[in-house]
Amino acid sequence: MKVGIDKIGFYSPDKYIDMVDLANARNEDPNKYLIGIGQKKQAVIPNTQDVVTMAANASQKIINDDDKKSIDLIIFGTETGVDNSKSAAIYLQNLLKLNASARAFEIKQACYGATAGLQMAKEYVTNHPNKKALVIGADVARYGLNTPGEVTQGGGAIAMVVSTNPSIASFDGESAFHSDDIMDFWRPLYRTEAVVDGHYSNNVYVDFFKDTWDKYNQMNQLSVDDYKALTFHLPYVKMGIKGLRAVLTEASESKQEELKNEFNFSKIYSENIGNLYTGSLYLSFLSLINNSNDLQSGDRIGLFSYGSGAQGEFFSMKLEQNFKNNDSVEDINSMLNNREKLTIDEYETMFNNWIPIKNVNMNLNWQSDDAEFFLKALKDNQRI
Ligand code: CAA
Repeated sequence: MKVGIDKIGFYSPDKYIDMVDLANARNEDPNKYLIGIGQKKQAVIPNTQDVVTMAANASQKIINDDDKKSIDLIIFGTETGVDNSKSAAIYLQNLLKLNASARAFEIKQACYGATAGLQMAKEYVTNHPNKKALVIGADVARYGLNTPGEVTQGGGAIAMVVSTNPSIASFDGESAFHSDDIMDFWRPLYRTEAVVDGHYSNNVYVDFFKDTWDKYNQMNQLSVDDYKALTFHLPYVKMGIKGLRAVLTEASESKQEELKNEFNFSKIYSENIGNLYTGSLYLSFLSLINNSNDLQSGDRIGLFSYGSGAQGEFFSMKLEQNFKNNDSVEDINSMLNNREKLTIDEYETMFNNWIPIKNVNMNLNWQSDDAEFFLKALKDNQRI
């Protein structure tokens, strides 16, 4: 029996800044951001969006009436939740009018949360083949104005339906894991922006990738030649390039070219959005299947998930018959092409006044947004 990803939806708000503008404002050479970091544009999250509304906007693109009946597990991966007690999954269940006979909860391990959710969903659906699960990876990546991490911010939500006989990709082999108590990136409860030891985090990421890559290939008797493409958690595009380089030498010259070409398809969405934290790996997977023309059903795709602190997992999936969805391609292209470009001043104001991190006792003006789901106000400590 095949189990895997049946559908993927993506949403990111309709505002962005250009990395050349940011570089100029920060007195950096634009090529540092464009080439050295690998980013072109960065999503800016307005007051009207948080992880719940973004997840609802991503999910409503893919969920039909049948899904509403058969989804009875809702796992919300995030490290920028909206409440220290109530899970974002419960809000989502209500907004999408999902089955009330469901289990809904939130899960956290930095950028790894969605992968933990996906793997739990795999085991649940394997044991209950008539059921489906909804897995979310939604975050707002915030490092702070004028910090080295600023160029690697971003935000948005990925929604995935996991089922038997999936349309997009099925799980293939047992995952390889690695975990260790490491202070590379974290966010104590009193902080709204991450604390990061950036260069150290890059090194740990590559070490965890190599460790899980080797273990996975040994366990499943695979080598680099068995993969059509490798996809990575992309906190910024250059990080994925560093990961890829770490194993390219294991491949023949023609295979190296193929893996580099496919990587270029997998980075297109991320270089225009920035970091989604826990959704980033799946944005890169979606970018690959939506943009590459060389893929076929049966191709094996490697996925490396990394959540600082730190947890790594490498696994692979095989593409299924209907992996490419033209509606998704058009939808995301139009979402990216119709965004409003902000000046750096406008972005800084929006960044400093992002409502979900402000005092929730404020009775705010009723706001609106073109997205189907948006945060209208915070009133009496409740999100409206
Ligand atoms: N033209 C071309 N390239 C240039 C350049 C120029 N004019 N100027 C500099 N560069 C290159 C540098 O050579 C460097 O390349 P390499 O990485 O290949 O050596 C690159 O641009 C970046 O330059 P610096 O290292 O000097 O940049 P920095 O010190 O300002 O910060 C960073 C870079 C550490 C990634 C920082 O942005 C950061 O801390 N980001 C957040 C942390 C992060 O994303 N870590 C990733 C692993 S952790 C993770 O994955 C979880 C997560 O989501 C956070």
